[in-house]
Amino acid sequence: MNEKLISGFSKLTKQEKLDWVNTHFLSPKVENNEIDFPSFWIEDEVIQEVIDGFSENTLSNFVLPYGIAPNFLINGVPYAVPMVIEESSVVAAASSAAKFWLSKGGFKTKVISTIKIGQIHFKWGGESSLLNRLFPEIKEKLLLESNHLGANMVKRGGGVTDIELVHFNHLEKGLYQLRIKFETVNSMGANFINTHLESFSKSLKTFFDTSDLLSAEDKEIDIIMSILSNYTPECLVSASVSCPISQLKGVYMDMDEMEFACKFQQAVRIAEIDPYRATTHNKGIFNGIDAVVIATGNDFRAVEAAGHAYAAKDGSYKSLSSCQIEKDTFTFTLTLPLAIGTIGGLTHLHPLAKKSLAILGEPDAPMLMQIIAAVGLAQNFAAVKSLITSGIQEGHMRMHLMNILVHLQASELEKNSAVDHFKHISVSFSAVREFLEAIRSK
Ligand code: MEV
Repeated sequence: MNEKLISGFSKLTKQEKLDWVNTHFLSPKVENNEIDFPSFWIEDEVIQEVIDGFSENTLSNFVLPYGIAPNFLINGVPYAVPMVIEESSVVAAASSAAKFWLSKGGFKTKVISTIKIGQIHFKWGGESSLLNRLFPEIKEKLLLESNHLGANMVKRGGGVTDIELVHFNHLEKGLYQLRIKFETVNSMGANFINTHLESFSKSLKTFFDTSDLLSAEDKEIDIIMSILSNYTPECLVSASVSCPISQLKGVYMDMDEMEFACKFQQAVRIAEIDPYRATTHNKGIFNGIDAVVIATGNDFRAVEAAGHAYAAKDGSYKSLSSCQIEKDTFTFTLTLPLAIGTIGGLTHLHPLAKKSLAILGEPDAPMLMQIIAAVGLAQNFAAVKSLITSGIQEGHMRMHLMNILVHLQASELEKNSAVDHFKHISVSFSAVREFLEAIRSK
């Protein structure tokens, strides 16, 4: 067997896995000079073991910066929001937008709905009208079963709220779906939903096997799969900011406030019309959203998937935010689905996710949805504001410069001179190195 292939890798100890990767995939030079996996292990072995347990074949931890965006006033309550992100300027942009809106009443947020969906996809060869007639009995049976299966969730105010039969027979012969609605209260609910679906699919099969109303042929049902849907258009939150246009005076140098408002609205409108721009516009929103979703131990892939599907709900992909100018008032709003939790999953297993929730005052899931939406809106405001005024490179390049200076171990004095020097000159690694060499040789 090729020495770069292996069977039983998962059964090796962590050190053996590391040795195997080092031996077969890293040259000793690289290993010695640059990559030192154990130096990223957490000293506290118990915590390291917890983190190892989140995944498989773990060698080390991949560290990302954990920052705070302060000054978020959300429905009158101040928050300092934890953000985990590797892109420079994101936390700075969120913080500056939060501060900007702080003096204008802050963010107004509301949860529109909190329903999540699970699906049982099945094939059945009988008459669809017969299935329609059987459905009320199936539904009653499954709802009853759910009361036992999810008794604890029911006590907390959650559970199965509805079941629909969806016909796809016209698109694919014999294809149907049970679309099941769940309220999962403070948990994201993936396990709760999937456990229900797998149990329901067995009961559905039993129902068909044992129904007296069905011929031997009609008893045959083929359950294809049972899984939650990450599309959650009924788990929606919105955040908005609003102010008289006169209060936008001074938002950027001496730019006229009405010019700013109109240009801002135009920029958002472009993202409503053009999917190419909409994708970048929404990416900016998710810069903020994902950072809080990760910091609180939630599933950013699920949140992204739902958000982008929702952005395409009208048949073409559009901006998730919208901007209105009515009379003399400027309003900027973001509405998107956010299926997140504040209990279960990693939320209290990951020590820093737990800390994030503590910093946020132990919010319930609806409150966390609102905080995340406010950060998404702030991020979007900051990005569009930069784009229609200075452009984004100015801020990015400053952060880029700082990263290079840190890498080259510049002193505070050298950093200050470099910031001055590169104000009007483009930043590149070699230009910064040469600049430092020149001042160090003096
Ligand atoms: C960069 O990460 C995000 C932006 O491109 C978003 C936008 O264009 O709106 C600045």
